[in-house]
Amino acid sequence: MSHNLATAAYLGAAILFVLSLGGLSNPETARRGNLFGMAGMALAVLATVFGPRVGATGIAWIVGALAIGGGIGLYAARAVKMTQMPELVALMHSLVGLAACLVGFASYVDTSMPLAGAEKAIHEVEIYVGILIGAVTFSGSLVAFGKLNGRIGGKPLLLPGRHWLNLAALLVVVWFGRAFLQAGSVADGMLPLAVMTAIALLFGVHMVMAIGGADMPVVVSMLNSYSGWAAAATGFMLGNDLLIVTGALVGSSGAILSYIMCSAMNRNFLSVIAGGFGTGGGAAPAAQGAEPQGEVVPVTAAETAEMLREARSVVIVPGYGMAVAQAQHTVNEIVRTLRGRGVQVRFAIHPVAGRMPGHMNVLLAEAKVPYDIVMEMDEINADFPATDVAIVIGANDIVNPAAQDDPASPIAGMPVLEVWKAGHSIVMKRSMASGYAGVDNPLFYKENNRMLFGDARKMLDEVLAALKA
Ligand code: TAP
Repeated sequence: MSHNLATAAYLGAAILFVLSLGGLSNPETARRGNLFGMAGMALAVLATVFGPRVGATGIAWIVGALAIGGGIGLYAARAVKMTQMPELVALMHSLVGLAACLVGFASYVDTSMPLAGAEKAIHEVEIYVGILIGAVTFSGSLVAFGKLNGRIGGKPLLLPGRHWLNLAALLVVVWFGRAFLQAGSVADGMLPLAVMTAIALLFGVHMVMAIGGADMPVVVSMLNSYSGWAAAATGFMLGNDLLIVTGALVGSSGAILSYIMCSAMNRNFLSVIAGGFGTGGGAAPAAQGAEPQGEVVPVTAAETAEMLREARSVVIVPGYGMAVAQAQHTVNEIVRTLRGRGVQVRFAIHPVAGRMPGHMNVLLAEAKVPYDIVMEMDEINADFPATDVAIVIGANDIVNPAAQDDPASPIAGMPVLEVWKAGHSIVMKRSMASGYAGVDNPLFYKENNRMLFGDARKMLDEVLAALKA
């Protein structure tokens, strides 16, 4: 393939990636967005493998690597459960960081293209910065993976004087950067490069260890952004324009997503990065905040069906528990039955419901729930006072009134779905355990709230049977 043809193919792939991101912004166009992304990636791989920079022996290596990588990817896609997706994403980010480090070291020791003057300095800055971002992304993502799958506790690790430690690490990295650029030979430059890599790896671990469980979603999307910048840095090192464009797209979209998630959790981005919030990851209620008062009123599935049958308007709030119970198909059956009886049914989706962005939308789309009844928090929150029954399926933090009423609560200020303003709310969960943020929920004790205890799938099957009876 000629150089010009490869460049044209790269341009086509870049356009397809932009169209892909555009498509993914809406559930109705998400499938098309995915197809654009797949087509763009296929074009990019083909243009690279058959491009002017890969020789005949190189192709054999690439095909071998594609077969191994593709095989692992296929296995992971089939084996990983939806609820484990954030861990998988974190692990993948770590691979991008590792790739940036390896490419950086390889570019440094590769002296086949002798560079001099400004060109050499620019190339070395690219290598230094690329390895720096790559190493932070690699170790930070591995710790995020450990925290998300529970192997590392959710409690933030707050070392004394940690901000000073970080500042000292930054100064040492800058100082060694100067030594690296002044090194006379590859052998001389290796020591500052290796020291900087070690510091960057430690910084990545320290940064994510200091972040509490409740802030993990923001961290994952922030690492997503870092992995994009690491890929862009790799693109600079390899002189590959498409990798620069793609890395910048991932880097900036990850940064925007982090910002949106911070707003959804009422967190300041800088304070998330500074760490120390959220002890989550566990079932025990956190000590902070006022103890909820009042009585909990349990209901049966048959009573729930009766309340739904008599309602004119119902809002369903799905959360992490719906994903765990895989109850989305039964939920859809109930929706169809209620709509068949003339009841207005809508879904209210909180931006951080579940364990990853868009988690609930994906499950509802899988169950073929019509898109037009799936509302975002801002679209539906004002409608709760006019709703007869709000039914909460395996959600907890996202419907916690303490976020509004209790300034001492760890989730104070986080926007929540105001289900308690409906005529009745029914919370479906297995016990009185707390949610991800580890805080107690005063909603359960409200006078107009009912608790339907049990596995969401089992309880909803019973509600459906009672509705149809
Ligand atoms: P949570 O607050 O975690 O509450 C989920 C509830 O589901 C739990 O209280 C649990 O109670 C219940 N549950 C679990 N398995 C169940 C089952 N089989 N049947 C019925 N109920 C079950 O979830 P949420 O309200 O969706 O809020 C999301 C939380 O996760 C937020 O704190 C958010 O910050 C955090 N987070 C979000 C993301 C993203 S990006 N979405 C990523 C990471 C973390 P029982 O144990 O009593 O059943």
